[in-house]
Amino acid sequence: KSCIALFASGSGSNVQAIAEAVQTGEIPAHIALLVCDQPDAYVIKRAEQLNIPVFSFRAKEYASKAEFEQEIVHRLREAGVDFIFLAGYMRLIGETLLHAYRGKIVNIHPSLLPAFPGKDAIGQAFNAQVKIAGVTVHFVDEGMDTGPIIDQESVRMAEDETRESLQRKIQEVEHELYPRVIKKLLTEAVMEGITE
Ligand code: GAR
Repeated sequence: KSCIALFASGSGSNVQAIAEAVQTGEIPAHIALLVCDQPDAYVIKRAEQLNIPVFSFRAKEYASKAEFEQEIVHRLREAGVDFIFLAGYMRLIGETLLHAYRGKIVNIHPSLLPAFPGKDAIGQAFNAQVKIAGVTVHFVDEGMDTGPIIDQESVRMAEDETRESLQRKIQEVEHELYPRVIKKLLTEAVMEGITE
């Protein structure tokens, strides 16, 4: 069984979906830690209900990204974490974390990358009036939503689609896709094989 950490900043619906897949045994992992940079986020309440230990912090209470990432790496090592899955963690991963967990950090992004990286990907796709939106799961590198793509799923834009209905559809796809990809990565030991 792998020991994993989830990183989130917001509502945590993806954390919930992953945790449920762990509970049913579909994902062979132990969730050792939730890392959250927004101490008031709803995901913290979810983690408490799911019995997941939480490390939350405010970036502005540290002198630099390197400093809070050093603290995160310390907590991850203490918890025995092997792999990190970002689930709505709205912060660029810095050198410190990348160096400590190279090739072992995965993210989900609500667009068909490389289209619409960065913030509000769903709004960007909606405003661009694309016909096909979607979701990407990818390895994290130093760029903004740029690492090697692991899997993607498309979502067709309906004639009468609203931004809200598109968001609902995308989140539904995420809650199915992310646990499935995590299961595959951990089961096939793809991630164990990655080295610096
Ligand atoms: C998800 O849609 C995720 O793909 C997105 O944030 C949302 C978090 O929702 N992530 C990004 O935009 C990363 N660039 P949740 O808190 O309900 O899981």
